[in-house]
Amino acid sequence: MSRVTNTPFPEGFLWGGATAANQIEGGWDEGGRGPAAGDFAIHLPKEQRSKINGEMYKDVNVKQIERIEKNPENYNLAKRRGVDFYHRYKEDIALMAEMGFSVFRMSISWSRIYPNGDDAQPNEEGLKFYDDVFDELHKYGIEPLVTLDHFDVPLNLIKKYSGFKSRETIDCFEKYCETVFTRYKGKVKYWLTFNEINCVLTNPYACSGVLLNDQSERTYELVYNVSHNQFVASAKAVILAHKIDPEMKVGCMLCRLENYAASTKPEDVLQTVFEDHFNFFYTDVQAKGEYPYYIHRFFKEHNIKIDMKPEDAEILKAGKVDFISISYYMSYVAQYKNQEIIEPTGSLVAVIKNPNLAMSEAGWPIDPVGFRTALNRIYDRYGLPIFIAENGLGSTDHPGENGYVCDDDRIEYMKGHVREMREAIEDGVDVFGYAWWGPMDLVSSGTSEISKRYGMIGIDADNDGNGTYNRFKKKSFYYYKKLIASNGADLENNIGDQPLDDWCANGKYTVENV
Ligand code: BG6
Repeated sequence: MSRVTNTPFPEGFLWGGATAANQIEGGWDEGGRGPAAGDFAIHLPKEQRSKINGEMYKDVNVKQIERIEKNPENYNLAKRRGVDFYHRYKEDIALMAEMGFSVFRMSISWSRIYPNGDDAQPNEEGLKFYDDVFDELHKYGIEPLVTLDHFDVPLNLIKKYSGFKSRETIDCFEKYCETVFTRYKGKVKYWLTFNEINCVLTNPYACSGVLLNDQSERTYELVYNVSHNQFVASAKAVILAHKIDPEMKVGCMLCRLENYAASTKPEDVLQTVFEDHFNFFYTDVQAKGEYPYYIHRFFKEHNIKIDMKPEDAEILKAGKVDFISISYYMSYVAQYKNQEIIEPTGSLVAVIKNPNLAMSEAGWPIDPVGFRTALNRIYDRYGLPIFIAENGLGSTDHPGENGYVCDDDRIEYMKGHVREMREAIEDGVDVFGYAWWGPMDLVSSGTSEISKRYGMIGIDADNDGNGTYNRFKKKSFYYYKKLIASNGADLENNIGDQPLDDWCANGKYTVENV
């Protein structure tokens, strides 16, 4: 098969990076902001983490919130610090502009706008903050693409309603959406409703603000009902956006889990179909506006009853998304386990090792070809434009003796994925933008550490919050800059006359006009 190396991306393709308020902003109690989900996520050193403790703040439960509220100083609450974007956004945006970004995916902290989630009036200081951020982006011609809720339900709604477990939270979300759509009309064209909406299955607290006493309460019946409420909330947001500004485009966001059959056994292949049902269920509802055929058997066999109101079907139909967005980090292997009924594993981590793939430091299989497969599958299924809302590599940086970070692993990861994305576009898939996860180092969603670094812009801070928080450029900064300047054609970065390795050696990089 021929390949399209060194071919530019379609004109107008959006290049940039993606972040979330709770992982970058800090200023958690400034500007009238109220507390939210991430403010209660504890960072634990690796040795102290267990499977359910500290990995994806799964165990944030009633008791943990009480303990933290009583003695916050006893905990490392890294998301409260973020990486100080709240005070340094101008510098960060200038650096992103220097890389040539044309899009910046960010989220609004819901509790900066409605500190308690259900306040009568929005917080003007919060609204003004995002006005300033959007203006700063536009100053450089960077398009903001905004997630309405990226793991960020206000604490009051978590305590009062258990987040999206209750329909009251749908109303609060709708009001919040109306406020920001009206305020930022003309400034923000692209919106996403919920980040990785499918993560509710494993992380109902982080994803949907559901407060449990313990994990035994995390039943299928619960999480699918929570999802239903989020579908309705998402559809209402789409309807509202189109009403307030017909120019607005609203997308959904799926954590795409590409999977392969463990063998050529027909049962293993069938298992991949179940896995896809489990994963695509979310985009199926949000893009097609109704529950897909396969889910009814699954619901029946697991005794799941969805509390569907008579008006819901119509809302879902009227609130179909305009585009699909995904995060793509890895693939996994699916194996049939003699189950009598459809039983997905939906594994986020490699339970079965794929011998064909290398692993990242975090144990995530690195699979650029799987990215092309995913894009083809998604486009085939929906025929809607696709935005890459997240793709990236989290790893420890090893500065050289001169202090420069020559992050070739990050560059290789990006190169591989961009190459396969270009192939997918050549295949005919309509991908309109790519946002690298974490253009600057940020606090990890899963572990609240900063040492799992994603950034091309480094941040001088450690997991305990020590450091100056000053920003610096890594080798990948220059790589991405050249890649963007060539609209994706210069994958090997051999356009221009100075190899990037010169920079690693002496920190001097003179090709400023690429
Ligand atoms: C996605 C989330 O799950 O993956 C991001 O949308 C997150 O918020 C990213 O940061 C990477 O995960 P982690 O745990 O390495 O931060």
